[in-house]
Amino acid sequence: MNLKNLTEKFIKIFGESDKKIRFFTSPGRVNLIGEHIDYCGGYVFPAALTLSTTVAVRYNGTNTVRMAATDLNNIYVCNLNDCDAAKNLNWGNYQAGMIKELSLRGYKFSGMDMLFTGTLPFGSGLSSSASIEMATGIALVNMAVNKNEINLSNIDIAVCGKACENNFCGVNCGIMDQFASAMGKKDHAILLNCATLDYEYIPLTLGEYVLVLANTCKKHSLGASKYNERRAEVTKGLEIMNALYGRIYENLCEYSLFELEAVKDKFEDSLIYRRVYHVISENERVKTAVNILKEGKLTEFGKILCQANDSIRYNYEVTGDELDAMYDAAMTQTDDGNVLGSRMTGAGFGGCTVNIVKENYVDKFIEITGRLYTEKTGIAPEFYVCSIGDGAREIIE
Ligand code: GLA
Repeated sequence: MNLKNLTEKFIKIFGESDKKIRFFTSPGRVNLIGEHIDYCGGYVFPAALTLSTTVAVRYNGTNTVRMAATDLNNIYVCNLNDCDAAKNLNWGNYQAGMIKELSLRGYKFSGMDMLFTGTLPFGSGLSSSASIEMATGIALVNMAVNKNEINLSNIDIAVCGKACENNFCGVNCGIMDQFASAMGKKDHAILLNCATLDYEYIPLTLGEYVLVLANTCKKHSLGASKYNERRAEVTKGLEIMNALYGRIYENLCEYSLFELEAVKDKFEDSLIYRRVYHVISENERVKTAVNILKEGKLTEFGKILCQANDSIRYNYEVTGDELDAMYDAAMTQTDDGNVLGSRMTGAGFGGCTVNIVKENYVDKFIEITGRLYTEKTGIAPEFYVCSIGDGAREIIE
């Protein structure tokens, strides 16, 4: 929805006022490699999409934040004196969580009306929730009563977003999605060290290739998925490694693959070993993949993406039938360099794969992958050619 239509809809819902309407936006992300290791202090390599959440905001002179969305009928209310009451809203809880986390960091708010709109498909592994959190966060820090006294950066807002998911929404996620949404840069991916939050922008120069997202249209829900279970498994893995090495490392990714393989026989639980193997090998793959990309070796980069998919599929087991069917369909098209690589992206159990596809082959890719996928699953998929965009910001008209 363009800003003019958004403004009209805003006035229809919340009425006229002499206060100004401001607009803030924040994108979803695709993760190229480094999956399920942000919460183990690993390296990840996401990029912000141009698909995003946009929010129109205006002070309302009350003590409540009223929230609506262009595709929902209700107005959801968060009382600024009691954000916790909004925890159980089936929509609006991410926003209320951001108000709460930012308040804990000293921000003071007066009432506002907020209308959300977006282009991100929900539950598709492209971080629609992080984009809502970051759009809300950037709006809130710019609208706060005492905004000139506190100066949180976009990275700080990302950290708040993670806290909001962890503390308010009950998802024990890592920092990757919020960081990518807050800090994205057009035509670049971000190499992020999740232990230190050091980061580097790497140009995504793909020549005659483009990134195509293939959406399984199998909805995933982070809370309902095995996400928290995997976190518990790798926490156990870290305890085992620390006990075996007599160390007190905070993060599994501080261990090398060499160190892991040296104690393989001492792991009593082979399932935990496989989970740990994924985490540590994935961390090493990210570093290799980024170096290879910097050298422009796209074919090799694609191969590493496929290796990463094998690891998350067989060792970490968070793909599921639909993502596997989508990946397998892409892999039938690697001849003549039409498809250089593919992997699931995001939390898994549904959502999207990301594919490196020759630009002049995209239509054929969509046709063949879509047909094979539907034959196998009975579901009609969706495809999006990716554009890599900027992170959270105010839209100045
Ligand atoms: C979700 C989480 C992230 C990350 C990915 C898997 O998107 O929000 O923190 O763990 O899954 O890489």
